[in-house]
Amino acid sequence: MKSANFLKENNARSLWHPMAHPADSQANPPTIVTGGSGVRITDVDGHEVVDAVGGLWNVNLGFSCDPVKKAIADQLDKLPYYSTFRGTTNDAVIELSEELRDFFAPDGLSRAFYTSGGSDSVETALRLARQYHKIKGEPGRVKYLSLKKGYHGTHTGGASVNGNANFRTQYEPLLPGCFHIPAPYTYRNPFNETDPETLAGLCLMALEDEIVFQGAGTIAAFIMEPILGAGGVIVPHKSFMPGVREICSKHGILLIADEVITAFGRTGSWTGSRHWGVQPDLMCTAKAITNGYFPFGAVMIADGVAEVFEKDTSGAAAIGHGYTYSGHPVGAAAALACLAETKRLNVPENAAARGAELFAGLQAIGSQCVVCGDIRGGQGLMCALELVADPKTKTPIDKATIGKVQEIAYQAGAMVRVSGPNIILSPPLVLTADDVQVILSALGAGFRAL
Ligand SMILES: Cc1ncc(COP(=O)(O)O)c(C=O)c1O
Repeated sequence: MKSANFLKENNARSLWHPMAHPADSQANPPTIVTGGSGVRITDVDGHEVVDAVGGLWNVNLGFSCDPVKKAIADQLDKLPYYSTFRGTTNDAVIELSEELRDFFAPDGLSRAFYTSGGSDSVETALRLARQYHKIKGEPGRVKYLSLKKGYHGTHTGGASVNGNANFRTQYEPLLPGCFHIPAPYTYRNPFNETDPETLAGLCLMALEDEIVFQGAGTIAAFIMEPILGAGGVIVPHKSFMPGVREICSKHGILLIADEVITAFGRTGSWTGSRHWGVQPDLMCTAKAITNGYFPFGAVMIADGVAEVFEKDTSGAAAIGHGYTYSGHPVGAAAALACLAETKRLNVPENAAARGAELFAGLQAIGSQCVVCGDIRGGQGLMCALELVADPKTKTPIDKATIGKVQEIAYQAGAMVRVSGPNIILSPPLVLTADDVQVILSALGAGFRAL
């Protein structure tokens, strides 16, 4: 490994970072992370902190998960790659598919289509949804509905259903036929409604209204995150997702649950859909499926959708979609080990308990702090603080002030993530109660410095 001086001199010089302005990365070089152990990371200067970001919502079991590391190393020795395109497969991916079928049985999902990550999973689900309707003889069902504030990755299909202009404007024109519904976001919404249940009802009415306006027969699918993550941890009322399910079923529209961050325990339930008592038609997963150690994902498919494809005799169900790395044996081996460890540790239980402590601590911090406009969480280990310059006008906080909170928190022992006006917390699900206190005290120091 090169010296610390080499790394610092060349930081952001010859690479462009995702979700950053290249000039900004050069002017304000990113933190160089060189080590990870348990729920902690260490930077190039040897400073160690609790990673309250959990990698990027994906290192659910922490950085020292030996069974996953060993599975990857063993698989690299045995078979480092083989394709699953028509005509070949590998042993690891067959075994994984059976495990996933059991794991997702309560969600009504029984088949897997493998991908290299979350954006791929979203793209796959959107495409399979259109194909499903074509096989069924409704080729006019091509449109997609989604939520404002939703995040569905950055492929063109995903960006088109994405509900945040930051990920859209510079890449327009996007896919035609994508329409957005207001999110059940109590702090800011076009109805000026603060009651979560009433707001959920209004958003459902907006959904139904849009379906009637577009014509149900033109719509392929509605895609949503059970809890909106990157948009700032927006937690819908418990009536919302079941309401969406009912409306979609009534109109023959497929429901795609984008569970790239919520599958595998983050919400305190095994999946976000199960958390709300909903069975989707398609579910996008990635991230924690391998604990972030290998780029991998799976779209899970409901029995009813699978049947339409598998019973087709016309040829329309031939899948003209897939990735070189779909069903990668190393990813599959990592996922098998990760799933076993996730179940053995019963991570949703810890996510729920630690998440409740973290949320309570954040509410205590927020009550002392005028810039904390809204504090969101309470469903497992995903929380956000939305900062405002003025709580009366809800003017979003400026970049420098929120950056200062992040920097001081980092110096005081916790890596937290800033996304627009939000501080987002998504720590590993194996966090201890002491680790929660480290995060809270570091954030407290950040706010006291303002
Ligand atoms: C809900 C959701 N969908 C899709 C994605 C895209 O995943 P990836 O970055 O692995 O492509 C993300 C990433 O954070 C996500 O949170």
